[in-house]
Amino acid sequence: ETARVAFTLNGEPCDLTLDTRTTLLDALREHLHLTGTKKGCDQGQCGACTVIVNGARINACLSLAIMHEGDTVTTIEGLGTPEDLHPMQAAFVKHDGYQCGYCTPGQICSAVSVLQEIAAGVPSHVTGDLTAAMEPSNLEMRERMSGNICRCGAYSNIAQAMAEAAAGERA
Ligand code: FES
Ligand code: FES
Repeated sequence: ETARVAFTLNGEPCDLTLDTRTTLLDALREHLHLTGTKKGCDQGQCGACTVIVNGARINACLSLAIMHEGDTVTTIEGLGTPEDLHPMQAAFVKHDGYQCGYCTPGQICSAVSVLQEIAAGVPSHVTGDLTAAMEPSNLEMRERMSGNICRCGAYSNIAQAMAEAAAGERA
């Protein structure tokens, strides 16, 4: 069975007719050829497929495309371009926040959303005892990024990139 779905994708209208079982991730990669969004586990465990929908990050592999009628979807391609990087992309470059790069689009989409979550006061799971042992904002960002797995172990550099982007937003 197929169905039609229309949403805004990276600022442009997008209208698709898809098998109703198509995930948002497969719609992006296979039908719209936006291969920046990566498929790692395809079952909600790695975060490689993270995109931003209506201002919040989601795992695109866990969401059916037809559920996104009228939504606003932003992928890594919509955040910035090589000529005009998003500040978070620029910070990842500056701090070497990647090695193989496979997890990076998801990390960056997640990182952009994390700073918005913190600014909006969305609570995290980090509590007092833990924050006492570590610089709070760094720990909080790591906690919030814990759904984004990096097999290359670039976590320290990702945290540095996020700290710089956060400082830039506060400036
Ligand atoms: Fe979606 Fe791994 S591919 S969480
Ligand atoms: Fe290789 Fe993260 S940079 S998986």
